[in-house]
This record gives sequence, structure tokens and C-alpha cells, in this order.
Amino acid sequence: MGKVIAVAGKGGTGKTTTASQVVRYLAANGVSPVLAVDADPNSNLGETLGIEVEKTVGDIREGFMKDPQGVPSGMDKVNYLELLMNQVIIERKDFDLLVMGRQEGQGCYCMVNNILNRFTEELASSYKYMVVDNEAGMEHLSRRTSGRVDYLLLITDYSLRGLRAVKRIHDMLEDLKLDVKHKGLVVTRAPEDLNGTFLAEVKEIGVEIVGTVPDDPQLAVLDMEKGSMMDLADESASAQAVGGVMEKVLAAFA
Ligand SMILES: Nc1ncnc2c1ncn2[C@@H]1O[C@H](COP(=O)(O)OP(=O)(O)OP(=O)(O)O)[C@@H](O)[C@H]1O
Ligand SMILES: [Mg+2]
Repeated sequence: MGKVIAVAGKGGTGKTTTASQVVRYLAANGVSPVLAVDADPNSNLGETLGIEVEKTVGDIREGFMKDPQGVPSGMDKVNYLELLMNQVIIERKDFDLLVMGRQEGQGCYCMVNNILNRFTEELASSYKYMVVDNEAGMEHLSRRTSGRVDYLLLITDYSLRGLRAVKRIHDMLEDLKLDVKHKGLVVTRAPEDLNGTFLAEVKEIGVEIVGTVPDDPQLAVLDMEKGSMMDLADESASAQAVGGVMEKVLAAFA
């Protein structure tokens, strides 16, 4: 069974950046196959990884609900949806990408959702790693992706507000039917020394800091040039920092 690494945290703190750097790290270390999953309806993981996305799981759901009779003869609904799902997976040399897209519209999508969720769960077994980028907040995690997360990277910027969002998510973990095996805190745009107030709050939450990522000017350059995270230099400060985080993540799996 593949390992699921997911990110969660407040908006704009660096979830997509971190998720794409995890994909980059795994690719750079020759780990394959890896599936990157964009579970944020305002998806931009594809863009960050330099991929133009044309179709999402949401599109399949919509299309199917509009024309439920459109199943080709000789095929059942499950097979048909799985066939469509396979067409949504974008294959690249270093990793594959699946974009979940928009959430449910009107009407009951339960059956379709169940089939799609089961398919996503089964996908994890065909990959060594599944890296899931999430929207801010957490509730959707239990609905939309596999109920199992092997490593949850809680992302905060260097702010108490970011940290409080992490605390809310952390407290929520108990209530969600999510099976989170390991978790760690990543502090983005962090100075070298974290101040006492910040550290005291971290201690209170009860989650270990697995890495701090400094403000990296290379990321701004990449953003402006619409470049792919896959092209970020190994020497860049954030790539180095996420490398350190990944060493801990992989050690936790060992
Ligand atoms: N360590 C860093 N140094 C410099 N810039 C950073 C760093 N981490 C993230 N950024 C920048 O901050 C912005 C927000 O990052 P990102 O999109 O990864 O956040 P997010 O948590 O995924 O946001 P959202 O909640 O909107 O999905 C991006 O422009 C990104 O390039
Ligand atoms: Mg994001």
C-alpha cells in the first residue's frame, strides 16, 4: 500500500508550495511512482508543478450526472466511471497528477462519489507515494480522499494566526474519521530562531516541528516566471529545508 502524505493549514501559508516540493523531492531522489493529488477546488498544484490541467474528477462527476444514461452498452456504471477516472490522471516522467476539482453541485451524487472515492483509495495501492494538496481547513479530507494519511504535514507561516489554524485542525483530527499515522509541523517563511511565544504555542498544541522553511526569494522568481517547482534548484533554501523535512518523514515510515 502506498504512503499518503498530505498537507493542511491556513490559507496562503504554503501548503501547495510544500506539497509540490515533496513531489519534487521524491522525483529528485528517484522514488517512483508518485501520484500528486490536488484536492483543493481552487486547484493550482498542477500549475505549480508546470502542468496544464484540462479535466478534473469534478468534471467527470458533472458529466455523468448530466447524462447518466451515457454509459456505453456492455459496460456498467462502475467500469465506465473508472475508465473516465483513468483518463483524468495526467502522466509525466517523474510523477502522475490527479486533480479533484469542484465539489458537488446540486442533487445527490452519493453513488458517483462513492465510486470515485473508492477508486481514489484503490489508486494509493498503485503508487509508492500519494502527495495530497488540500484546501485550507480540514473537514473535506475525510470526505474527499482516502481516510488514511500516513504523514500529515501541518503547515503554518511564522504567525500565531497560522498556528491557531493548525491547532483547530489538530483538535479536529480526533473527531474526523481520519486515520493519521504521523504528523509534524512545518513553519514556512521562518526566521532562524523562533521566538518564545511561538514555541510556547507549538508546545501547547503538542505537535513536533519537523522543519522550518526560510523565506526563499527563488520561490518568488518561480512564481513570476510561471515556472515549475520541478525546476527549482537543489541549492535553493526552501528545497534544502523541505529535503530535511522529507528525511524525517521517510524515517518515520522506515
Ligand atoms: N518559504 C517561502 N518563501 C517565499 N515564498 C513562499 C514560501 N512559501 C510559500 N511562499 C509563497 O507564498 C504564496 C502562497 O503559497 P501557497 O500557494 O503554497 O500557499 P497555500 O497554503 O497553498 O495557499 P491556499 O490556501 O491559497 O491554497 C505563494 O506565492 C508562494 O510562492
Ligand atoms: Mg494551495
